[in-house]
Amino acid sequence: MKRRLLFSYLTITVLVLVLLEIPLGVQFARSERRRLESGVQHDAFALALRSEEALEDSITNAERKELKALANEYERDHGGRVIFVDHQGSLIADSNPPDLGKPPTTDPRDFSGRPEIASALSGRDVTGDRYSDTLGTDLLYVAVPIATGGELHGAVRITFPLSFVNDRITDNWLVLVAVAGVVLLVVSLVSIVLARSVTRPLARLEHGAEALGRGQLDRRVDVPDGPSELRTLARSFNTTAARLEQLVGAQQSFVADASHQLRTPLAALRLRLENLATEITTAGRDDLTSAIEEVGRLSLLVDGLLALARAEDHGGTPEPIDVRHVVEGRAEAWAALAEERDVRIAVSVDGERALGTPGRLEQVLDNLLNNALEVAPAGSSIDLVVQRQADEVAIRVCDAGPGMTEDERARAFDRFWRVDQGASGFGLGLAIVRQLVVADGGTVALATAAAGGLEVHITLPAA
Ligand SMILES: Nc1ncnc2c1ncn2[C@@H]1O[C@H](COP(=O)(O)OP(=O)(O)OP(=O)(O)O)[C@@H](O)[C@H]1O
Ligand SMILES: [Mg+2]
Repeated sequence: MKRRLLFSYLTITVLVLVLLEIPLGVQFARSERRRLESGVQHDAFALALRSEEALEDSITNAERKELKALANEYERDHGGRVIFVDHQGSLIADSNPPDLGKPPTTDPRDFSGRPEIASALSGRDVTGDRYSDTLGTDLLYVAVPIATGGELHGAVRITFPLSFVNDRITDNWLVLVAVAGVVLLVVSLVSIVLARSVTRPLARLEHGAEALGRGQLDRRVDVPDGPSELRTLARSFNTTAARLEQLVGAQQSFVADASHQLRTPLAALRLRLENLATEITTAGRDDLTSAIEEVGRLSLLVDGLLALARAEDHGGTPEPIDVRHVVEGRAEAWAALAEERDVRIAVSVDGERALGTPGRLEQVLDNLLNNALEVAPAGSSIDLVVQRQADEVAIRVCDAGPGMTEDERARAFDRFWRVDQGASGFGLGLAIVRQLVVADGGTVALATAAAGGLEVHITLPAA
């Protein structure tokens, strides 16, 4: 999210910079060229004006020197090369005669062949650029005729290497690139701050929602900064969490209260029925015994419902529990009943600490051992195996009973479901087991054990 925000800010900035700076650079290049051209044109006309007198009639040596001085002065002050030619195109003065390495093939003093000189000598002033073979660079030239009263006396030409302008244009591009770099840097910094102001409260909301999902219904999020939409979202989150906490609390206390309130009258009813036993005739005694048994079953059902309601209670925080201690403790508690049925409970523990709410694993094992002992044939054994697997602790309870078919396994965790509807249980045990394990962030699954019976496979997060 942060990267995406950053990316979009930077894309927009780059787009704006390109749209602004490229026309700016192109415009600068054009006007720089134009500025140089018109400056040089102006200078050329001024030089033509100043040299008119010297060229008017046949030129003296003093006048040659004068023109040479004029040309030199210009080159010194402005950097452009100046030449004066007479009306035939022969050189009179040159501010910077090129140093020709090899002997020239043509007369170095004859400029009439140069196209710009030819135009100037035909009476037209010209401006343009061309490649110079002698200098090996592009040149900007301005050539102007020197004439008085309609009579042509010669021409003056000023040349500048184009690199002169191009260097300035390149410098300008570099400045623009540097500005773009600074702008991008500033925009990146600002957008990182902006993106953080959005993503940080979002991360807080996410953690809050996760905690709520884990069952911490009292969790609220605190979003004092950030965009107003996020603050509103945080407030709605908090209201929802509060409402949820209230509803779940109300439901849990209803089930708990109802079960609890039922227990007292049930106990009283049982007592009264038992007191009746002495006063009743032998004919009614069987009915009375059945009635007392029914009340007993009803009490057990209420206890089961109460246990289920408590299992759904997400209260309590998981903490490291000593799985070995719990498993060995429960095996010992059920040992007497197992012995009575000639069943052995075998414990094998490897990997000891899991995360769970104290007391829950005990209830889980009680339910599973109770079920296993119901079905375990005499002489068989019930295996309790604990193993550490990566970041979780696996607990398996295996028996040698009849096991379950795949369809039965799929329904086994439903409330009030039993394989044999006539059996004595209520079908709440496995539902309670699943609630308890899931509430602690674990998993529970059923499979067929090696001995053919049922294998209950539980995992809890390792501590
Ligand atoms: N180890 C097992 N082997 C074969 N069948 C089993 C085993 N454990 C449970 N079952 C079947 O699954 C049904 C549901 O079990 P569950 O523990 O939920 O309820 P229950 O034992 O019948 O009653 P409760 O546990 O509420 O007293 C049982 O009635 C039984 O038919
Ligand atoms: Mg059971």
